[in-house]
Amino acid sequence: ALTPVESAKKAAACLAVDDYVKDNKIIGIGSGSTIVYAVERLSERVQQENLKLVCIPTSFQARQLILQHNLTLGDLETNPSIDLAIDGADEVDNDLTLIKGGGGCLTQEKIVASCAKEFIVICDQGKDSMILGEKYKKGIPIEVIPMAYVPIRNKIFSRYGGELILRMGKAKAGPVVTDNGNFILDWQFPQVSLDWDHINKELKMIPGVVETGLFVGMATKVFIGRSDGTVKEKL
Ligand code: A5P
Repeated sequence: ALTPVESAKKAAACLAVDDYVKDNKIIGIGSGSTIVYAVERLSERVQQENLKLVCIPTSFQARQLILQHNLTLGDLETNPSIDLAIDGADEVDNDLTLIKGGGGCLTQEKIVASCAKEFIVICDQGKDSMILGEKYKKGIPIEVIPMAYVPIRNKIFSRYGGELILRMGKAKAGPVVTDNGNFILDWQFPQVSLDWDHINKELKMIPGVVETGLFVGMATKVFIGRSDGTVKEKL
């Protein structure tokens, strides 16, 4: 049997797939642990309903998931316009601003989401917050070009404060290297209500910053699963 959190994640994932996925669509596939339930549900529906879908991955993990479930793999070169992207998140506030990138895949996730007509987020209620930073304590992930991590860290610190931590590997000595060959700084920002749209743009202007885990004004809808199997929808 699934733990309460896993049941919540699965409930959100299944409802999102059932509500949004239709035949002949191009679907962006996110990364993380919640998206696994969505891919399982997608593959069930493809078999039962003989749906014709093309799936665009947001990471090496997503690509593997698509292949393992015998779904059709695509890319942005042949399918630059996506009907629907589905992905997890580390935190979601009431403006549907997201923190993403706990799994390190933020850059490709943001690219795929930006190409999608609708961007659907699936998570459990532990991610649902009023003020960004209240639930996800590891900070905002920022993907950086390796040779620039110290100047970037210093610039963000002197402008905003907080703490910037170079993400280190768990099963590897040294820093985590992303699917794009970069490093990740986790920015534990001073927790007050901030203008995330503005901050996201400022961060992106720092030379060497590849992408931030702040997703502002991108999500269409968020499905928030509860352990009893019910799902709350945030618009
Ligand atoms: C991956 O880089 C992240 O953005 C994930 O989408 C996010 O961490 C959600 O992961 P879980 O579904 O495992 O919580």
